[in-house]
Amino acid sequence: MTYWMIFLRLAHIFTGVFWVGAALAMYFFINPAVRATAEAGQKFMGHILTQSRFSAAMIGAGLTTAIAGTLLYWIDSDGFTSAWMMAGPGIGFAIGATFAVIGLVAGYMIPRTGAAMGKLAAQFKGPPTPEQQAQMGALSSRMAMISTVNIICLIAATVLMAVARYLRF
Ligand code: HEM
Repeated sequence: MTYWMIFLRLAHIFTGVFWVGAALAMYFFINPAVRATAEAGQKFMGHILTQSRFSAAMIGAGLTTAIAGTLLYWIDSDGFTSAWMMAGPGIGFAIGATFAVIGLVAGYMIPRTGAAMGKLAAQFKGPPTPEQQAQMGALSSRMAMISTVNIICLIAATVLMAVARYLRF
């Protein structure tokens, strides 16, 4: 069991570090740089979200974190049966996991919205029509909303994972 725990913890923490670290870098540094560099930035974003393996790597890392985390929870709680689940650590890890799953769903929607924006932008022949402008505005608002939900949930999940073991109630 010890080797299995070590393997699961390594898988969980390594993929979690990659997933949350890349999301933080994207939200706080790459997105502002993309906005500041207008067309060049949009081209870069379109490429990284739809042509590179970045989105697949993020979803893969998120899923691996969640699956390894669920197995760890299953071991810690004796197959979801022990009193540990109703104590501080059990509740803390469960709330953290819930935030992580919401973050995963929001993260899954980001490249899909990015692809829809790219498809719409490709239809522009010269300046966009008022209808195209409205569609792009709606897609941009959706992108801003899901990116914010994604980053808040991943930060909350990380905080809870870091402290859950020490919660006493
Ligand atoms: C569905 C998602 C998740 C589930 C079900 C989950 C579950 C768990 C469980 C049960 C543990 C305790 C493992 C043990 O007893 O050794 C744990 C630890 C940990 N998790 Fe998660 N987790 C999830 C997401 C995340 C995310 C997004 C991160 C962010 C990086 C993360 C980082 C950590 C870390 C660093 C630990 C070690 C904490 C310690 O040893 O006190 N987890 N996780």
